[in-house]
Amino acid sequence: MPLDAGGWRLAMGLRPLELAAWLEIDEHYGEEIALKTQLLDESYDVVVATEPEGDEASLELLAEIRENLRAHHWGVATPPHEREHAIVAASRLVQEDLCVLVRDDVWRLRAACVCFPSRWNLATKIGATLDDIHRPVPGYDDELARPTNAFFDRLKPDRAFWRLNWTLLDSPALYQPAVARRSPGGKLEDWYFRVERQTLRALPRTNAVVFTIRTHVTSAATLRERDDTFVSTLLHSLDTAPASVQSYKGWTGVAEQLRVALDQG
Ligand code: HEM
Repeated sequence: MPLDAGGWRLAMGLRPLELAAWLEIDEHYGEEIALKTQLLDESYDVVVATEPEGDEASLELLAEIRENLRAHHWGVATPPHEREHAIVAASRLVQEDLCVLVRDDVWRLRAACVCFPSRWNLATKIGATLDDIHRPVPGYDDELARPTNAFFDRLKPDRAFWRLNWTLLDSPALYQPAVARRSPGGKLEDWYFRVERQTLRALPRTNAVVFTIRTHVTSAATLRERDDTFVSTLLHSLDTAPASVQSYKGWTGVAEQLRVALDQG
């Protein structure tokens, strides 16, 4: 639960990660791998983007994922892969979305398989620097660009990190590539709390950085049942997000509408 009782804030929020906990396998494994297969069949160019500079690191990532699954998730099958890009083969083995960044003069996204994007478009990010990838994010340039780039430069293969990112969306779909954002009305039952568990690690041979995104979606109404403080903390977080963030996330006016609906309920 990434909500902060103190209100909304922009932060790197990185925490150390054991490699045994790098990949998360849960009861949705079968359905999410099936959804990936369908998306790779029907929308390959939306969910995959690669450049030759990312090929070697993608092969290393595939080998690392196989080894990690064998060591820590022995129930998961690791069949030999088809003749396809290694980042796609790797992605078929895990629920995570996978991104590979390689440094030349700066860090750039060179290979990615992102089947569960949260309203952004992969094709516009391939080859881009960290700063350019995050151009639409309010406050990133001033507050996060410098520490994020410095973190990438210092990251060593023997250490891994994770962070959480959350948003509130009006759809539970895992695959949401459309950039368009709107602020619909509605009751708590119309909203979904979407949490991304993101990990970062450097690969030992190529020194490329792997960024994984594991997406969890739960209906806001379910979270209210599980936790008495969820709704008040959520509303406080929405209230305290700057207007630019509310607009970027599609939250403008949402807290007010939720309050009206909750009062009427
Ligand atoms: C320490 C590393 C990183 C930090 C602190 C960070 C931080 C953030 C933040 C705060 C957002 C705004 C999202 C939201 O609040 O809902 C964001 C969005 C995003 N991040 Fe990162 N990020 C990091 C690494 C990466 C990497 C390695 C990638 C590589 C693909 C990436 C790709 C994105 C994308 C595609 C978005 C959505 C941008 C859009 O709306 O067009 N991030 N990131």
